[in-house]
Amino acid sequence: MTNTLRNFSTSSAKLHDAAIVGLHADGQLLVPRSIAANGKDSLTSILKAAGAKGKAGESRVFYGDFGLGSEVQKVAVVGLGKQGTSAAAKDRVRAAVATGVKALKAQEAKDIGIAGMGHDQAAAEGASLGLYNFNYFKSGKKGAAEDIKISALDLESPDEIQAFKSGLVQAHAQNLARILMETPANHMTPTLFAERFLKEVEALGLEGNKLKVNVRDQAWAEEHKMGAFLSVSRGSDEPLKFLEIQYEGGKAGDRPLGLVGKGVTFDTGGISIKPSANMAAMKGDMGGAATVAAAVWGIAALNLPINLVAGIPLCENMPSGRATKPGDVVTSMSGKTIEVDNTDAEGRLILADALTFISKTYKPHTLIDLATLTGAMDVALGGAYAGVFSTSSSLWSELDAAGEEAHEAFWRMPLHSVYLPQITTNTVADLINTGGRSAGSCTAAIFLREFVHGVERDDGFAQIEDEPSTEVGTLLETTGDVKTGSVRYAHIDIAGVMDTTSTAGYNAKGMTGRPARALIEFAKKLSSQ
Ligand code: BES
Ligand code: MN
Ligand code: ZN
Repeated sequence: MTNTLRNFSTSSAKLHDAAIVGLHADGQLLVPRSIAANGKDSLTSILKAAGAKGKAGESRVFYGDFGLGSEVQKVAVVGLGKQGTSAAAKDRVRAAVATGVKALKAQEAKDIGIAGMGHDQAAAEGASLGLYNFNYFKSGKKGAAEDIKISALDLESPDEIQAFKSGLVQAHAQNLARILMETPANHMTPTLFAERFLKEVEALGLEGNKLKVNVRDQAWAEEHKMGAFLSVSRGSDEPLKFLEIQYEGGKAGDRPLGLVGKGVTFDTGGISIKPSANMAAMKGDMGGAATVAAAVWGIAALNLPINLVAGIPLCENMPSGRATKPGDVVTSMSGKTIEVDNTDAEGRLILADALTFISKTYKPHTLIDLATLTGAMDVALGGAYAGVFSTSSSLWSELDAAGEEAHEAFWRMPLHSVYLPQITTNTVADLINTGGRSAGSCTAAIFLREFVHGVERDDGFAQIEDEPSTEVGTLLETTGDVKTGSVRYAHIDIAGVMDTTSTAGYNAKGMTGRPARALIEFAKKLSSQ
């Protein structure tokens, strides 16, 4: 695959045919610590003549070795803007290195050294994300990035090496999510998704005790009475899959972090069929599944000392003679009944059963789902932020910090019982899967909360006191030793950040794989608490 980790190295021992050098806005040129002084001087005077200002986004390729090593023939000087230690300064490094590798790739560089960017993790991420390209379906073409090697020229301390490696893993995870999402739905069915994920984790060599992946089938879903999940898959000829994943990096018996991802490998809308225009983008409707799979891969690759469980429901949403019809009533695993008013609101149905299963079976301390859930999310926040709906202000703060660090920003949205009546009234069942046009993303979120066992119910932050009383709004009682209120829950709606038209910096046109890096960053912070 593009950007295999083995194409990256943290040792600068070998010769490179190209290098990337950073230039700050204050004129400081970040060459490797080992560079000969005269090389730096000649590069500095050339930059002056070329009028380079070190502005963020600026990039120029020069020819010569400039003391960077006798094999170096191409040097990309990339602007880093203002120096600093902020998340924004790190992101300028991430973007600049990506711009540099893109420029050198266009010049047919094969082996690129990266010199002293000051933020090793961000530099590694920029290099790996910048090399991503999706050429798998162009006959006669190969992902050109496969032939390009990247190495850091002057990593010295173990911390610097660790940071660079972590950056490579996180970017590689995001590239995996990008590929899973971008791959056309006929090549990324539930079965093929499961196979691909197994292949990626097998390559880590952790299978066995530390990482267990179970690929569940329809009979298993039936045994678990997952009527909501099954109702979505009904119309398709492709068999559904449910990935049940356990990673035990922490202490035995410690409650895990739980992740759930929406895996609709293609969303036609079902009988409530979508219009044809832009329907092809619905190959990305498994973005939640892709980002969760990528995060699991990354957390395992980094060997993080936490316990983790993940549930990934995978199916297609198709119209057919067997498909669920508007008005049908289904019974979810939780026992709650749901009227399917609109078969295009399918994400919440498959998530409902996955959330119940994971929360009930594994009793996570924190449960986060990711889903390309509502078009309304794109209307509200667009591609800038993914919306986070959380019962917990501490969880929100941790996600917010991770999002800032990874530059995959989150914005907090209301998860509040005030939205319950929209999905509990005017229905013959306990709940209805559409809440009308108003607050479409918020009613979807509150629907999901109804299926989380032991969920904390903190409606307080939004300052609406008069919580409506509603009988069907009663939360699921928790079994065993887990008290109601002990699970921090967040739903992340990634519909708006699913794809992009930008090619600037480390962006690539198409599916984004967001927020795979932020999820790993979040797990890193959790593991160091
Ligand atoms: N997968 C879509 C949401 C979506 C739309 C994701 C655009 C990415 C880009 C989801 O299943 C859906 O169809 N939602 C409906 C819900 C409605 C019927 C209540 C929507 O948003 O229109
Ligand atoms: Mn839909
Ligand atoms: Zn969908």
